[in-house]
Amino acid sequence: MSISGFWVIGYGSLIFKPPPHYVIKVTGSITGFIRRFWQSSSDHRGTPESPGRVVTLVPLEDLQNNPKFHDDLSLYELKSKTRSEFSSASRSFSETDFIPVVHEISHLTPQHLKVWGVAYYIPPEHATEVREYLDVREQDGYTLHQVDFVVDQVVESGIHSHVIDNLRRNGQGNITIDSAIYIGTIDNGSFVGPEALHDTAEVIAQSVGPSGRNIDYLSGLTHAVRSLQVDGEAADLYLEDLLATAEELTSKTNP
Ligand code: BEZ
Repeated sequence: MSISGFWVIGYGSLIFKPPPHYVIKVTGSITGFIRRFWQSSSDHRGTPESPGRVVTLVPLEDLQNNPKFHDDLSLYELKSKTRSEFSSASRSFSETDFIPVVHEISHLTPQHLKVWGVAYYIPPEHATEVREYLDVREQDGYTLHQVDFVVDQVVESGIHSHVIDNLRRNGQGNITIDSAIYIGTIDNGSFVGPEALHDTAEVIAQSVGPSGRNIDYLSGLTHAVRSLQVDGEAADLYLEDLLATAEELTSKTNP
């Protein structure tokens, strides 16, 4: 049986800790999801006695069908920020920086909910090994799905650029990749959301697991997401707010 190569999306730790044996890396986005630190982690950034928090994605359909998510959407995705503020050096923001973009959750379309990340191509000769590696690394409630990843920039491709040349383009002419993605769906046992931002920040500020401090994961991810796009479109208000809150709590605990 011949095994083909595959693409895998990183929207969490895979952004700053790539899988082994990848030969192409691209930046870009998926639509129709929000990214939240609502997956409990007892094997990476916490312990069974004191679980930390890691990211998962919640799809538009679940958001629309469950009123419990609506307040959180109103805080972040139902608002947008001016580009110039996003790319300012300070990155501090106030309520007045926000402009409402959509008022009705029922009117949201996938295009309103964009999550920036990266995608890696794993060649056929390493496909089985890397899939097994990811299945182990990302256990704790995550399941494998397929979604379209829209490419913004090809970061590394080396001698494998022919793989890029053969990819399809969407209606807007952007390269689009049918990619694997790990998601902790809202019915998995480790899903804790919706959780107030301050509560999540408190858990993150105090959690440590076999992979290190929870706050280092949040900080690494937030900085990596900022750098995905030069004009700041990739900046994620939820991550920025969460990191600022968790850092403040950490500095109070360790002055
Ligand atoms: C990631 O994108 O890094 C990721 C997030 C959740 C599960 C697996 C991978």
